[in-house]
Amino acid sequence: MIGRLNHVAIAVPDLEAAVATYRDVLGAKVTAPCDEPDHGVTVVFIELPNTKIELLYPLGENSPIRAFLEKNPAGGQHHLCYEVEDIRVARDRLVAAGARVLGDGEPKIGAHGKPVLFLHPKDFCGTLVELEQV
Ligand code: CO
Repeated sequence: MIGRLNHVAIAVPDLEAAVATYRDVLGAKVTAPCDEPDHGVTVVFIELPNTKIELLYPLGENSPIRAFLEKNPAGGQHHLCYEVEDIRVARDRLVAAGARVLGDGEPKIGAHGKPVLFLHPKDFCGTLVELEQV
């Protein structure tokens, strides 16, 4: 059911420093920061030949990234995003298998303007999973 690895997301406490690390030290192609108020994050994408890295930085007081950074002050891997062809079909199959979808279970529009859902990390080997319809 799942397709390509769309991106690996890393929460960072200092977005400028993280961008400098990827751009200047690792020599990667980096996009401009983009605020995502619906998700409480500012996002920068690192474009690699075979996938992307999504740098997440808190936006607003209620950002879901704040608690993560309190537990992981140096930053850390936050989620993996897998591509699916039809996000509602994927969701229904996962729910039927006993997996927990976060939030109200309805897809939201994610950082690429495409529908996304998040799945409970306890159901997926301790890793928060994002599904993106492509
Ligand atoms: Co993501």
